[in-house]
Amino acid sequence: MRSSYVQLVGRGHPLDPGYIPEDLTEPKIPFCAPPEDPKRLLRLRAARAAERLFERAAQAGLCLYGVSGYRSYARQAEIYGQSSSGYVAPPGCSEHQLGLALDVSCPKLGFELVPAFAEMEEGKFLERFGPMYGFILRYPKGKEKITGYAWEPWHIRYVTKTLALYLSLTGLTLDEYHSL
Ligand code: DAL
Ligand code: ZN
Repeated sequence: MRSSYVQLVGRGHPLDPGYIPEDLTEPKIPFCAPPEDPKRLLRLRAARAAERLFERAAQAGLCLYGVSGYRSYARQAEIYGQSSSGYVAPPGCSEHQLGLALDVSCPKLGFELVPAFAEMEEGKFLERFGPMYGFILRYPKGKEKITGYAWEPWHIRYVTKTLALYLSLTGLTLDEYHSL
């Protein structure tokens, strides 16, 4: 089965444990991960869109790095079991399993995924320019009860350019879009 680009995945909308996207590929972007690590993968359209977004950032003098893209159900279960931060989704409930989500950081932050990213030019760039390439900031500040997850200014989700622009203009989350 191939999921749709706008599919809702979250605590109330889990994925099948066996779901693996068919068209995973490695985007040509700087990555803070070892070669061959599956976390470097995204679905094809998201990978191409990320390349264009990162290229645009580089033209603006900003250095974005991918930190974590695709995660299998088993990998999500592993990091969920190890984490006490509250930032990690239970297995099946992570859109990283879709291959459409990417955590982004930058060298200035030591590649960490921390709220301070939102204050940096790199974080502001993602929020402003992501939608033009099909990406939204999936877990905004103030929408925690709606998304079911903490504010994550580093987590972008590919939803197609049309929907990303619509969501950024209306201020709706993907969850709200699905309940319209
Ligand atoms: N950090 C997000 C919620 C995830 O684990 O998918
Ligand atoms: Zn993430």
